[in-house]
Amino acid sequence: MYWYVHDFTMHVLPFSCVSTKKRIAIIPGDGIGQEVIPQAVKVIEASGAAVQMTQFDWSAERYLADGMTIPSDGFTILGRDFDAILVGAFGDPRVPSNIHAKEILLGMRFKMDLYANVRPVRLLDAGLCPLKGVETKDIDFVVIRENTEGVYVDVGGVFKQGTPDEIAVQEDVNTRKGVERIIRYAFEYCKRNKKLDGSPRHRVLMTDKANVMTYAHGLWQRVFKEVSREYPEITAEHMYVDALCMQMVRDPRQFDVVVTNNMFGDIITDLAAGLQGGLGMAASGNIHPGKTSMFEPVHGSAPTIAGKNLANPFGAILTAAMMLNHLGLTREAEKIEAAVLQAVRQKKTTQDIGGTLGTSDVGAWVAGQVK
Ligand code: NAD
Ligand code: IPM
Ligand code: MN
Repeated sequence: MYWYVHDFTMHVLPFSCVSTKKRIAIIPGDGIGQEVIPQAVKVIEASGAAVQMTQFDWSAERYLADGMTIPSDGFTILGRDFDAILVGAFGDPRVPSNIHAKEILLGMRFKMDLYANVRPVRLLDAGLCPLKGVETKDIDFVVIRENTEGVYVDVGGVFKQGTPDEIAVQEDVNTRKGVERIIRYAFEYCKRNKKLDGSPRHRVLMTDKANVMTYAHGLWQRVFKEVSREYPEITAEHMYVDALCMQMVRDPRQFDVVVTNNMFGDIITDLAAGLQGGLGMAASGNIHPGKTSMFEPVHGSAPTIAGKNLANPFGAILTAAMMLNHLGLTREAEKIEAAVLQAVRQKKTTQDIGGTLGTSDVGAWVAGQVK
């Protein structure tokens, strides 16, 4: 593991030697990212995965120290010198503009064109779910969130700010290309991925608000109909997002692959994290097939619990497993997932999900299991 990159030239050497090791950039970021990512790194190391990890200190701390969010060639370096990126979280009360999160996190998603945000929703233990009468097999779906467009693109502005006539506009940008590729990704995902119990996936549900956003989500409707015709073996379904939120709580069994736009995907995956036991349990990948992809837990920097050894590291550890899987290191990924399952079953967990251990003890326990 190489620590602290202030000067990138320092890190030319390790990569100049021929190696089959997968090269992973580690960006812990802010708050609990600084606590959970070291646990994920510890577990990756214990798994024996053939990887070389390089840590970057891009964060609020760094921004406050010298004004840098990410170097101008940061995205080029990530895409060129790494096979994957593991990220913690960004967000710090000392940076109310959130400029560093925007430039680093959204920067990676947009500039590296990581268009598919894949957020699996799995219940590892029935006791973790706040719903009554739900078994582990009842919650095993995935949200495929569009990750490069929508209201996140920063098109808009504020006019006459501070006057009674103030106008604030934030556009929802949806391109034919962007919508088509994420919908196709969802169908391909459905075709190629099985549920945890080994049974095939066979349904893709699109969720939107086309009854109101007739232009933007009308495009999604048309493209969904078109693309779904190419996959006659997959059942294509639709639900408005408000109704979907209710259904997700009433009967999560009905979901298989859910595809949606950037903002709805953000919102419904926090709700879905609740079904899994909370934000500390949810993993995600920001993927562009064939390009360097980025993996991060769904949760944020959780400033109120940061620095207290309270944060649940499972989201980050399961995210690491997802990344290893993506890199073809499937045996190591499986070992890690099995160890997390054991930890949950044996209550070797943090307080948020009923245990008594601290963040680092949970990491150490899981690392011990995967060795
Ligand atoms: P959050 O996800 O940080 O926290 C929401 C709630 O969940 C809090 O009660 C928190 O304590 C709890 N929580 C989150 N992760 C946990 C974990 N691993 N273990 C135990 N409890 C956990 O969301 P927020 O409070 O809305 O946002 C805080 C900051 O994080 C903001 O600056 C926000 O913009 C940022 N954020 C960043 C990301 C990211 O970088 N991917 C994601 C979401 C939020
Ligand atoms: C997430 C986060 C981010 C998002 C924020 C921090 C920009 O909430 O990854 O879920 O909205 O995408
Ligand atoms: Mn979010």
